[in-house]
Amino acid sequence: MAMPLGGILLLFLVLLAAAAAGGGGGVWAFSSSSSSSSYSRIGEQPLSLIGIHRATVGIDAAASVQASPRLLGVKGEDTAWVTVDFAAPHASDGDWIGVFSPSNFNASTCPGPSGSDSGPVICSAPIKYQLANYSSDYGKTGKGTLKFQLINQRQDFSFALFTGGLSNPKLIAVSNKIAFANPKAPVYPRLAQGKSWNEMTVTWTSGYDIKEAYPFVEWGMKWSPPTRTAAGTITFDRESLCGEPARTVGWRDPGFIHTAFLTDLWPNKEYYYKIGHMLPDGKIVWGKFYSFKAPPFPGQKSLQRVVIFGDMGKAERDGSNEYSNYQPGSLNTTDTLIKDLDNIDIVFHIGDITYANGYISQWDQFTQQVEPITARVPYMIASGNHERDWPNSGSFFNGTDSGGECGVLAETMYYTPTENRANYWYKTDYGMFRFCVADSEHDWREGTEQYAFIESCLATVDRKKQPWLVFIAHRVLGYSSGFFYGAGGAFAEPTARQSLQRLWQRHRVDLAFYGHVHNYERTCPVYDGRCASPERSRYSGAVGGTIHAVVGGGGSHLSNFTAEAPPWSVYREMDYGFVKLTAFNYTSLLYEYRRSSDGEVHDSFTVHREYRDVLACVADSCPPTIPPAT
Ligand SMILES: [Fe+2]
Repeated sequence: MAMPLGGILLLFLVLLAAAAAGGGGGVWAFSSSSSSSSYSRIGEQPLSLIGIHRATVGIDAAASVQASPRLLGVKGEDTAWVTVDFAAPHASDGDWIGVFSPSNFNASTCPGPSGSDSGPVICSAPIKYQLANYSSDYGKTGKGTLKFQLINQRQDFSFALFTGGLSNPKLIAVSNKIAFANPKAPVYPRLAQGKSWNEMTVTWTSGYDIKEAYPFVEWGMKWSPPTRTAAGTITFDRESLCGEPARTVGWRDPGFIHTAFLTDLWPNKEYYYKIGHMLPDGKIVWGKFYSFKAPPFPGQKSLQRVVIFGDMGKAERDGSNEYSNYQPGSLNTTDTLIKDLDNIDIVFHIGDITYANGYISQWDQFTQQVEPITARVPYMIASGNHERDWPNSGSFFNGTDSGGECGVLAETMYYTPTENRANYWYKTDYGMFRFCVADSEHDWREGTEQYAFIESCLATVDRKKQPWLVFIAHRVLGYSSGFFYGAGGAFAEPTARQSLQRLWQRHRVDLAFYGHVHNYERTCPVYDGRCASPERSRYSGAVGGTIHAVVGGGGSHLSNFTAEAPPWSVYREMDYGFVKLTAFNYTSLLYEYRRSSDGEVHDSFTVHREYRDVLACVADSCPPTIPPAT
């Protein structure tokens, strides 16, 4: 049945709105790429569009693919641009080039019995792809050239030309193999605060098992001789994961993840460091040289600057995977933070980290993308649905958003100062701040282990010295007028606030941050749905309520809001961005929301508060007292 244009538009908008909840849902939409046969699913991992398990092989002698140069990273670089020339006798819009790593991607790499009639002929997804007609003359001439940016991720590469579109691919030509000079090289360091304030952890990835080389960090203060600290090594195998595609077409050997603990740091001191592996003959394979500033002592009065956002994901700088349609703001956010890195002390990426969704290779791509940030300032992550959720795996929500990862990737690739990384809640102090990071993918309600943690984290901070108390979770446990939460009527995860709001109020939590909804929203200081103050930009005096902020616009496709803003919603914006907090001293805090596109401030307020304001009784915040005798 034909539908008028207005009806089609309305249907599209309704579907778009339904998809805008930040979870795993999505709608089919035409891609902005140049291909007429190309379409993408908003919010869907692009690699999942490839029906690689259905692929057939029909090598065509008239088709060819060539990649150059053959040797990458000869000066120790961990990224390289590669030129791929290809030709096909019957060019069509559905042709595409897939990048495979390792280069040998035939049935011999399938788990279990392979090569049988019923088994797939290719059982691992490419790490990225481009449509052949991104090369403009391909349709006319049958010849094309594409540029790919590769990163060092432990294995060699080959490029394969497929016809038949993404969903029913037929392999017609495979390129020569290319490789990095040292595929095992230590790469992509990421810093995180340790369990104590004067400990920095360095985590990185390499191809060196502990049997082959000893991982360590060489580090020291500026102008002082270096010391060496050994690193631990962990990895995981296919059986550690919970389901498809992580265990099947999305599987890729993760290599080895190393973490060293640099301890007894001097507050605010600049340190340099270099990761390395000592081979049995005493030779050392070095990573790059970096530096970081040690964290301040808890309660130390000095300038402290914090960046918080969620839901960033990754995108490919070479236009692969549908021209970044998956997380369109990711590179902007990354690059804007890199530009301002001299003015950032610590970063919180509060869940929905890579959106790999079970395609393991994407974690390497993400760690490479954010390396300029993570190698210089602590990068603290929280767990989201795209890291953790999987049915019958202990996650609070039974969705499939992790693509079978069930938390293993997030818990392995990044260090967090949790007691048990499978329970992703932790506290961390940064000078005058305390952060209580919750795990919204595990039950947080009263009576649970996590509730006890949150209560203890909030209760044990000395507000004289650490006045700025911040609560963080991935899903919105506080307030959001995002379309999805508004449609549910709770304006948050159901039952979330009932369990937590008395804790926030009793312990005078200043700020609470969430992701999951891909937009920006800031509330008034609110308690039990009511604004404690009509003020919008200069807060002072007693903490009558907590200011909640949704900062889910890190990079993934944006989410819309309910038509009408609830009374507690002070500012909302459907754009990519992040929040930066600046603590000047014990009484002054600056809050800024900056857009990723230009780094400019589009919402801000200040808080001026003295210790007596934190002690002051407000609604439901103090135990009963006996009035003074008259
Ligand atoms: Fe999420």
